[in-house]
Amino acid sequence: MNYQSGFGNEFATEAIAGVLPVGQNSPQRVAHGLYAEQLSGTAFTAPRHANRRSWLYRIRPAAVHEPFQPLAHATLHNRFDEAPATPNQLRWNPWPLAGTPTDFVDGLLTLAGNGGAAEQAGIGIHVYTANRSMRGRYFYNADAELLIVPQLGRLRLATELGVLEVEPLEIAVIPRGVRFRVELRDAAARGYVCENFGALLRLPELGPIGSNGLANARDFLTPHAAYEDVEGAFELIVKFQGTLWSAKIGHSPLDVVAWHGNYAPYKYDLRRFNTVGSISFDHPDPSIFTVLTSPSAVAGTANVDFAIFPPRWLVAQHTFRPPWFHRNIASEFMGLIAGVYDAKAEGFLPGGASLHNCMTGHGPDAATFEKASNADLSKPDVIDGTMAFMFETAKVIRPTRQALEAPQLQSDYQQCWQGLEKHYRRP
Ligand SMILES: [Fe+2]
Repeated sequence: MNYQSGFGNEFATEAIAGVLPVGQNSPQRVAHGLYAEQLSGTAFTAPRHANRRSWLYRIRPAAVHEPFQPLAHATLHNRFDEAPATPNQLRWNPWPLAGTPTDFVDGLLTLAGNGGAAEQAGIGIHVYTANRSMRGRYFYNADAELLIVPQLGRLRLATELGVLEVEPLEIAVIPRGVRFRVELRDAAARGYVCENFGALLRLPELGPIGSNGLANARDFLTPHAAYEDVEGAFELIVKFQGTLWSAKIGHSPLDVVAWHGNYAPYKYDLRRFNTVGSISFDHPDPSIFTVLTSPSAVAGTANVDFAIFPPRWLVAQHTFRPPWFHRNIASEFMGLIAGVYDAKAEGFLPGGASLHNCMTGHGPDAATFEKASNADLSKPDVIDGTMAFMFETAKVIRPTRQALEAPQLQSDYQQCWQGLEKHYRRP
C-alpha cells in the first residue's frame, strides 16, 4: 500500500488523473460530473498552523441520504456520570473476543471517559471486539476524532479519503466527520479506541530534544484517494452527541474520487517511535513518551496525551529503573498491546487495561520493587517485545457502570502493593 508521508501536510491526490481543479477549489463544473465539497475539522478562522480542512471531489455530496433515526447500542455511549468516579486503582483482564457475529461498530464498549461532545473537551475510552467486517454499513463520528489502537487482528479502514491498512503495533486516526467502514483482515479483532472531543491530536513540541526524535512527522502516513462507485441498500451510522443515529443511504459514501487539503486520516507505526530516555541517572517523566497530544486551553496541560512504552534500553545508574511510585494531577488509562509492561510482574495482560486516577498512588508492584531494588546496574537492561500505551488526561477519567460491573474487573488489584513491606529501620 502506497501512502503520502507527513503530519498535517497539504496533500493533493486523485484516483482519476485530472480531477483536481487547478488554482481554485470550486469551479463551476468539476471534471467528470463530480461535486465539490469542503470538509472542515477546525474553525474557519483557526490559526494557520492549526487550521485543518480538505476539499473533496465526489460522486454525490454528503447530504444525499434518508433522515437519521435514533439507533440503540447496548454498550457504546458517553454517559460518564452514571457511576461514581472512584479513587481506587482499577485493572481489567482482557476483553473476551466476540462470540456472535459482531462488526466494529457493534463491538464497541465504553469503559470510561470525561467531558463530552457538547463541551468539545475530554475523551471517551472504548474497547472493540469484532469477528466480521462491516457490510453495507458506514460510520462517522461527529463528536470526536477516533484514535484506534489495534491489539489483535489487522484492520482495513476504508475511508472517504482512502484506505488505511493497520495492524497491531500501528495506530490510526480517523478525523471527526470522516465516513469509513472497517473490514477485518483476520478472524478476530480487538483493540482500544480513544474518542478525542478536544483539539485535534498533533505532534508534541520537542523543546531541547531538537528537531528530531519521538514520533517523526515523515512516519505518519495518509492514504491516496480511492473511491467506490457502488449503489445498494446501505446504512449510514453517525455518533452524534453521545448516541448513535442511522440513515438509509442508496450508495457508498466512500465516493471521493480526488481530494486536497490537510484534514485526513492517518496511520503511524509505533515501532518507528524514537525513544528518548536518561543516559545518566533517574527516570524522566512519561511525557518523554508522548506520540500525539491534544492540547487544552491551559499551556502545557493536555486534553489528552497518547504515550507509549516501547522496547528500549535502560542504562541509568544509581537508579531504580522502572517508574517510581507516583501520584499525579493527571489521570492515566493504560492498555497493553503486546508483551509485558516493565512496572508490573503479572496481572496486566495484552488486551487488558488499568486506570489510575488523579492523585491515586500507584507504581511498581511488590515483586517488581524487589527485583529492581536488587538489580545489577553495572549492565544495561533491554526491554523487548512489548508495547504498552497510556491515554493521560488533565481531568478525572470516570469509569462507566458496565466497566465497573464487568467480570474482567480485577477485585484483587490492590493486593499487588500489599507485599511492599516496611524496610525502614530507625537509625
Ligand atoms: Fe502512572
